[in-house]
Order: sequence, then structure tokens, then C-alpha cells
Amino acid sequence: MSDLVVRRIGRLTTWATPRITDAAVVIAAGRVSWVGADADLPAGLGDVPELDAAGAAVMPGFVDCHTHLVWAGHRRDDLVGRLAGGDYSPAGIASTVAATRAASDAELMRSGGERIATMRRNGTTTVEIKSGYELTLRGELRTLDVIADLAASQQVRVQSTYLGAHVVPDGRDRGEYVDEVIASLPEARRHQAAWCDVFCDTGAFSVSEAERVLRAAADLGMGLRLHADQLGHTGGAQLAARLGCASADHLDFVTPADAAALAAAGVVGVLVPAASLYTGSNRWSHAAVLREAGVPLAIATDCNPGTAWCESMPYAVQLACLAMGLGVDEALEAATAGGARALRRADVGHLGVGACGDLVVLATDHEADVVARLGAPAVAQAVIGGVVQ
Ligand code: NIG
Ligand code: FE
Repeated sequence: MSDLVVRRIGRLTTWATPRITDAAVVIAAGRVSWVGADADLPAGLGDVPELDAAGAAVMPGFVDCHTHLVWAGHRRDDLVGRLAGGDYSPAGIASTVAATRAASDAELMRSGGERIATMRRNGTTTVEIKSGYELTLRGELRTLDVIADLAASQQVRVQSTYLGAHVVPDGRDRGEYVDEVIASLPEARRHQAAWCDVFCDTGAFSVSEAERVLRAAADLGMGLRLHADQLGHTGGAQLAARLGCASADHLDFVTPADAAALAAAGVVGVLVPAASLYTGSNRWSHAAVLREAGVPLAIATDCNPGTAWCESMPYAVQLACLAMGLGVDEALEAATAGGARALRRADVGHLGVGACGDLVVLATDHEADVVARLGAPAVAQAVIGGVVQ
């Protein structure tokens, strides 16, 4: 919670106002208290620390609303196999589960912390993190505790999601496992999971299994999100609409009718283009299907070892534009305000007065360069709650 004045901003994007050139932002006690032309900066601010943007573009910090960043081991062999002609299969999750179960708390904290630090360097200021790579009650609760500890120790805002229903673990009866996940929801809630997610897809959980888990979670007051229609058209998007989930994520196989249902229910469609690239699915047209139906869009990294080892929101934005056909502002808004909407947070993802003082100073004088310049760092500096990172 800090005071800060960011001055000499070449172009300021707030989403709450039209773009302002030669701008300044005042942050008081961690919140935006004033935005406007640098020349109109209110007098009497006192001895507030200043950050000189030196003509760079400034925008809200990225809100990465879909990640699985707590894992151990690697899946590089899966990727190498796909490049030799193989396909992605959720069966590969088992090897990450084995490695994660074998890792110490300290190892999970270290690797998770490093991933968050990389995300922050790439401009992420709020991140959602799912459990789902232990798949035993004790292990999943341990992962939720690691997420809570990361939230307490890292300079980033964290939202915690319980994904005990990621896949049926090897050697378990699926009916029993689903029952166990449902029975574990109150514990997950106590271990600070605000959200519940299910991987509803071919090779994971069916629509009816996902519905049982999510209805039980809703009864406990947890927010709902859903991995839907990523690997096949299994009906996940329709379920997300029926249950009023905050978000339906992936959606590579979404149909216009599904998209209309999501739009009518106000469900945010979360695009995770790095996963479409990394799995070799090369499906991109769902973004246009969602947009045409009027589904509010978000963009996320999906950071995970199997389908998207990606800690960079600018990279996800580039793919959303260059592969999925989003416009630059559309994608930047989806990666900030859209992510916030997917997490039902009105206080992040924009720089209106009263919002959290979370912003990025870009490494350029124009925000379109986030998309125009490939392979170079897009972010010079992140500010979270008025604290320069
Ligand atoms: O979002 N789809 C489910 N979960 C991850 C993949 C998990 C994995 O392959 O390790 C995803 O793509
Ligand atoms: Fe995912």
C-alpha cells in the first residue's frame, strides 16, 4: 500500500477514460486517486515518490486469470514427441502428478515463486492459480497451502482455485474419485480456494460429473469456472452457461449455439492461445465465434507443463492477435479488464479512480508494440499497489 506518482507517460491507457497523452497517474495508499495530463497534476501532493515513465506507454497490469503454475518435473518429452508427429493427451498429466507428489513444499514454493517472478517481469499483476497436480486429498490441500503461501510471499495478487477434478488419477475408480472430490470441497474452501474448476473434456471428466462437482462447490459459496470444449465438443460450454460460471476456458470446439448460451449467461470466454499452439491443435477460429456472439473475452497464459509452459501475458496477447485475429485494443483489454471480469474483480484490470494501483510501464512509447514486436520484453517495469517491482 504505497503512494506513487507516475509522471511523463507518453500514452496512458486506463479503459476508464479515453487515452491520455503526456499523462500522469497518482496512487494514494495503493489505489489510483487521480489520472490526467501531466501538466494538470494536482498541486500539494507533498513528498510522494515519483516514477518517471520517460515518454513510455503505460497501461493496467495484466490479469492472468487461468494458470496451473504449481508443479514439479517437466513434460519436455511430450512436446518433443508431438513435434515428431504425436498428439496431446491428458494422460501425460500423470507424470506431472508423480513428480509433484514427490516434490517437497520448499521445491514447490521455489519453482512456483520463480514462475510468478517471471510473470511479474512480463507485466502480470494479478494471477489465478489452480491446484490439480497431486490428486489426493492431502496433496491437493498441500497445493492450496502452497498457493496461499505464494500469495503471502510474492508481490502479486493471487486468486486460488481448487482443481481436484483435473483427471481421474491412475489406479482410482472414477465414481469414487468424483465422490471424494465433492467430499473434499469444504476442506478446499478452508484452505483458501475461492474458486472451483473442473477439466470437463475427452479424457478427463464428463458433463454430468463436472456438474455434480460444481453444484456442490456453488452450494458452499465457491465461485465456478470450467475447462470446456478444449479437446473435443463435449458440452462443457453449455454446462458453464447453465450453471452461470464466471468463466468457460479454452473453448476450441465451441459452436455458435454454445457461444450464444455463454453470452446470454454472462460467462466470460477465456482464450488460452498458447495451449492451442503448444498442443498442435492449431484451432483459432473459436475466438471469432465467441466474439460474434458477444461473449466477453479474457486472455490467459494457462501456464502449465503439458499444454502451455508460458509465463508471458504479452506472448498470449500476440497469439490472440496474430493467430486468433483479435484487434490490439481488444486483446489488451481482454488481457487486463477481461481477466478481471473472469475473476469477478472490479478493482483490477483498469486504472479508473479507486482501482488498485497496478500498472505496467511498457518498453515502448505505444501499446500496439506489445503485439508488433515479437520476442523482446514488452514490459519495462510493473507497479503493484503503488509499489515499483
Ligand atoms: O489447461 N486442460 C487441462 N489442464 C491443462 C493441461 C494440463 C496438462 O497437460 O498438464 C490445460 O491445458
Ligand atoms: Fe488449464
